[in-house]
Amino acid sequence: MSTMPNSSQFHSHQHHLLLVLPVILILVVVSPLLAAAAEAEAQGQQPMARPGCPDKCGNMSIPFPFREGFQVLCNHSSDSDPPRAFLAGSTRFKGSQIYSDSSWSSSLELVSISVATGEARVYAPIAYSCNTNRNESLFRDQHIDFSYTPFAVSATRNVLIAVGLEAEAQLIFSLFTYQTPFTCRAQDFDRTPLARNGSCKGLSCCEQTLPADQGSGRFSMLWVNPVHDHFIWETTPCSYGMLVDKSWYNFSTPDMYGDKTLLKRFPRGVPLALDFAAGDTWCPVEGQPLPPHYACVSGNSSCANVTIEIDSPGYVCKCWDNYTGNPYIAHGCQDIDECKFPEVYPCSNGGICKNRPGGYDCPCKFGMKDDGKGGACTDVFPPAAKQATVGVIGGILLMVILWFTVILRKEKKKTKEFYKKNGGPVLEKAKGIKIFKKGELKPILKNSNIIGKGGFGEVYKGLLDNKEVAIKKPINGSVRENEQFANEIIIQSQVIHKNIVRLIGCCLEVEAPMLVYEFISQGSLHDILHNKNNKAALNLDARLSIAAQSADGLAYMHSQANTRILHGDVKPANILLDDNFIAKISDFGISRLLARDEEHTASIIGDINYMDPVYLQEGLLTEKNDVYSFGVVILELISGRRAIHSENNSLVKSFLEVHKEQKKATELFDKEIAIAEDLELLDSLAGMAMECLSLDVDQRPTMMEVARQLHILGRFRKVQDV
Ligand SMILES: *[C@@H]1O[C@H](CO)[C@@H](O)[C@H](O)[C@H]1NC(C)=O
Ligand SMILES: *[C@@H]1O[C@H](CO)[C@@H](O)[C@H](O)[C@H]1NC(C)=O
Ligand SMILES: *[C@@H]1O[C@H](CO)[C@@H](O)[C@H](O)[C@H]1NC(C)=O
Ligand SMILES: *[C@@H]1O[C@H](CO)[C@@H](O)[C@H](O)[C@H]1NC(C)=O
Ligand SMILES: *[C@@H]1O[C@H](CO)[C@@H](O)[C@H](O)[C@H]1NC(C)=O
Ligand SMILES: *[C@@H]1O[C@H](CO)[C@@H](O)[C@H](O)[C@H]1NC(C)=O
Ligand SMILES: *[C@@H]1O[C@H](CO)[C@@H](O)[C@H](O)[C@H]1NC(C)=O
Ligand SMILES: *[C@@H]1O[C@H](CO)[C@@H](O)[C@H](O)[C@H]1NC(C)=O
Repeated sequence: MSTMPNSSQFHSHQHHLLLVLPVILILVVVSPLLAAAAEAEAQGQQPMARPGCPDKCGNMSIPFPFREGFQVLCNHSSDSDPPRAFLAGSTRFKGSQIYSDSSWSSSLELVSISVATGEARVYAPIAYSCNTNRNESLFRDQHIDFSYTPFAVSATRNVLIAVGLEAEAQLIFSLFTYQTPFTCRAQDFDRTPLARNGSCKGLSCCEQTLPADQGSGRFSMLWVNPVHDHFIWETTPCSYGMLVDKSWYNFSTPDMYGDKTLLKRFPRGVPLALDFAAGDTWCPVEGQPLPPHYACVSGNSSCANVTIEIDSPGYVCKCWDNYTGNPYIAHGCQDIDECKFPEVYPCSNGGICKNRPGGYDCPCKFGMKDDGKGGACTDVFPPAAKQATVGVIGGILLMVILWFTVILRKEKKKTKEFYKKNGGPVLEKAKGIKIFKKGELKPILKNSNIIGKGGFGEVYKGLLDNKEVAIKKPINGSVRENEQFANEIIIQSQVIHKNIVRLIGCCLEVEAPMLVYEFISQGSLHDILHNKNNKAALNLDARLSIAAQSADGLAYMHSQANTRILHGDVKPANILLDDNFIAKISDFGISRLLARDEEHTASIIGDINYMDPVYLQEGLLTEKNDVYSFGVVILELISGRRAIHSENNSLVKSFLEVHKEQKKATELFDKEIAIAEDLELLDSLAGMAMECLSLDVDQRPTMMEVARQLHILGRFRKVQDV
């Protein structure tokens, strides 16, 4: 573990001391009793050692730089349980050793380490002198040498104690200069023990603080002068000398009687406070390069000069005030959460503790104010006024709360009723449809989010589950109140086709249930076709594919095996275009959800401009009504004109008249697309539209046929281009 130092200078100084004083070897004996005295560092949650380094020996905390920078040996042998830690030297201080007795080879056992205060404590041997008989005595001195180590015996935190009937303990604190020993003398002149337990005031026990100018010492030697007195050697044969942590030793009268009583009471020795330095230079001055192995690596920390021996430089690291932890490791110093320790960091009367980095505040509670001196909080209002105020406010509050409770309960009840009425229980069982809570949609239902208004009500755009959605909110009372609603929703949600706008979910907790659809970015064909700025995108190819895709969507609806779905309101405003100009049919089936007043059947449902006159007459919605409306859409696509149902300016009428006269409709085509090469195609489209508009319902093609026809036209055109 260690070897004899070879320094000749060291030896020569030792020499005269050895002459003056017999140095007696003291062995520190194992005692499990004192293990409990090993107090752990007041640790928080922060790590005390570097990652991967053990920071414990037994249950004693060994913070960095101990264990690594300063060697600590942890003895795990079976007869030291729990394991015990010994100071073994320092790698920072030139290969130093620690010597604690005349053999200069045993290490000192650690009691505790605190990097926060820069202190460590070790068990130090007790010096004694015992009479073996009337004429002779046996000595053992305390001899501690911290030369070339980061440690020194603290002069400020230890006291010198002598115990015995006529005990005189003497201490020297330097290896290099001869000094008058520092002495503490316990006397009991009458030889009648007047000593009292706990008191160490000169009677058989003496306690001395070391002089302030003493400074700590890397070397100390303590001895007790023998008392040769034939009257007392049998009852009180021993005198003791201790250099010990202040206020640790409590004198007890039995300590001075019998043979080596005190040694038996403290077999490991007594705790001795040590100062230590993290390095043997001064703190670096700002702007100067850091010394090698500079130890203060944590943020929130600073360096402090220490002189653990007179004239020799050193420094320690400290966490800033109000920070705690280990300044020797990265991120070691962390803010103290003072509010967790109200006994240590109290808040003045009335304040509420609020932690902040580097301290804490105690703002006053509501209704109180600071007294202006940082002291107690005082009431803003005088007590009487306060009581009255509290009464009134309390009363109002109570009423408001009651009122809210009533409202809330009513609201809740209503919500539940609506949910049930709108088919909630049925929809819960359906797959693929999400039922939204009122609260989920509420943030979206703002006027600024309105993107359209239609027969169904208002349409809002918003984000739900990170997806853009369009929410349709019907005008109260416009939705049919019947159990069919839920079924209708289920059917709609099952219609999944690339040319049909997808229904994602609904909200039933309101009087008129709201529907949530996928959001289609480019808006409706109506807006694009009739807005000059957008129209450029709509060449004949685009129009043809929009027509074909819309027809696909409608054909799919009509072909649904178990439940044929009719749209009932086919028009360009209900054909939406996505980013890729893919057409998607929207608003299908809405007509069936709307309340139908039997008398006004025709006038309410659908857009009159696209309405099949046959339906108007018969009032029965069939798939051929959708075909008719689609015919109008085709006309609108090829003419670029709005379909307006009026006596003289109807788009349908103009085309029908031309058709009746078996003329070509060239005049009616949109100038933007009516180029010579495309006239044939446009004629075909017009012809197809005429078939759709036939007043003989049976003459009309099905949507399936229309779709197929449109695809053939599209394919033909592509072949032509190539
Ligand atoms: C240390 O651990 C032992 C058991 O291993 C236990 O008896 C003792 O109380 C512990 N001491 C402290 C200070 O925690
Ligand atoms: C550990 O302690 C045992 C008994 O106390 C002792 O014999 C042994 O030498 C010690 N080991 C070290 C490495 O100090
Ligand atoms: C002690 O010294 C006295 C005289 O000085 C002598 O008579 C006595 O024998 C000595 N006792 C022992 C145990 O040596
Ligand atoms: C001091 O305390 C011890 C027990 O700890 C007791 O035996 C002794 O009598 C006490 N001494 C005085 C003077 O009270
Ligand atoms: C001495 O008394 C103090 C205060 O009562 C106590 O904290 C300390 O542990 C005692 N010392 C010993 C060695 O019992
Ligand atoms: C430490 O001491 C050195 C030398 O006396 C001095 O230059 C330096 O400013 C001191 N640093 C601090 C932090 O006190
Ligand atoms: C300083 O303390 C604050 C508050 O505890 C902590 O967040 C921060 O990480 C510390 N800085 C460093 C460099 O450790
Ligand atoms: C530490 O906190 C106390 C209480 O908040 C404050 O008075 C003191 O100024 C703080 N110290 C520093 C260095 O900020």
